[in-house]
Amino acid sequence: MSDLLPYLESVAQEIDHMIDRYFVDKVGELNKASAHLLAAGGKRLRPAVVMLAADAVKRGSSTEILPAALALELTHTFTLIHDDIMDDDMLRRGVQTVHTKWDMQTGILAGDVLYARAFEFICMSKANDKAKVRAVSMLAHACADICEGQHMDMSFTHRNDVDEYEYLEMVKKKTGVLYAAAAGIGAVLAGGTVSQVKALYLFGLKTGIAFQIRDDLIDLITLAEKSGKDRASDLREGKQTLIMIKAREKGIDLLKYKRDLTDEEIDGVIKELTDAGVIADVKKVAHDLVEESNKHLSLILPSKERQLLMEIGEFFVTRSY
Ligand code: IPE
Ligand code: IPE
Ligand code: MG
Ligand code: MG
Ligand code: MG
Repeated sequence: MSDLLPYLESVAQEIDHMIDRYFVDKVGELNKASAHLLAAGGKRLRPAVVMLAADAVKRGSSTEILPAALALELTHTFTLIHDDIMDDDMLRRGVQTVHTKWDMQTGILAGDVLYARAFEFICMSKANDKAKVRAVSMLAHACADICEGQHMDMSFTHRNDVDEYEYLEMVKKKTGVLYAAAAGIGAVLAGGTVSQVKALYLFGLKTGIAFQIRDDLIDLITLAEKSGKDRASDLREGKQTLIMIKAREKGIDLLKYKRDLTDEEIDGVIKELTDAGVIADVKKVAHDLVEESNKHLSLILPSKERQLLMEIGEFFVTRSY
């Protein structure tokens, strides 16, 4: 993974530069609320996937479609602002969440601004109009799926019999489809063939599901100082994560931890889950998905970018933040 981290760093710099130019220091309270999380950083992984997919299809094309890479980060950040309202979280990217720094109404509108502007930025890419229409359509479809996935995520908190299949459907929609759209949009704007676009879309979808499984582990394992997010928010909210589901299969009911927990209490839960083999089982599901996702890349000619896509999939399931 020696090449991946410097690559991600260079993407983050380009995205930060555009965010500074288009979003930071604008007048008006709503503009400030919209820029708040964007300017707070983040791993910028979806823009990296857009750019790698584009370059894997046509070397050098990513420079033409930087606005589309930014568009995926805008869409993602919009979902984070609204997700923090739904999950009742206070901390994001190491700063206060938008709805707690301002208020709920401003949070909803700040998210909506980024959601709308994402489509504007996709259209600013240098690509033919037909490709841009397909890209816009893919992003629109992904956004509707995310709403459905988020609705499933919320409705599952009223049940305690969600199974692994239902969980995978939910995370496919809430998280997988945006990575799928990132890879698909990069490929389509770079002029990829139908089979190249499909292969990259499916690669994004499967690694995206694996990404969310790892995110559920990070929620538990990583300290808030490092993740920049509320620790054990999923336990507090009674989320039906894969951890919760696998634990239940082994006779551990994590719903008893549906409250604020101290770091010491969370460490106790991790020990209980590790001893029962739950953590290992969950990690395996994520790793298997990444292995499967790599098969789709065999339809793409070997290149440095294809290699980096494989490394990003591996990073998704080994990262700790
Ligand atoms: C967090 O995404 C939200 C999920 C889909 C799990 P990231 O972990 O990519 O968050 P940032 O962009 O780095 O803050
Ligand atoms: C959120 O999943 C996915 C989306 C934002 C659509 P989570 O609720 O687990 O994300 P985090 O942990 O708050 O980043
Ligand atoms: Mg959340
Ligand atoms: Mg959530
Ligand atoms: Mg999470």
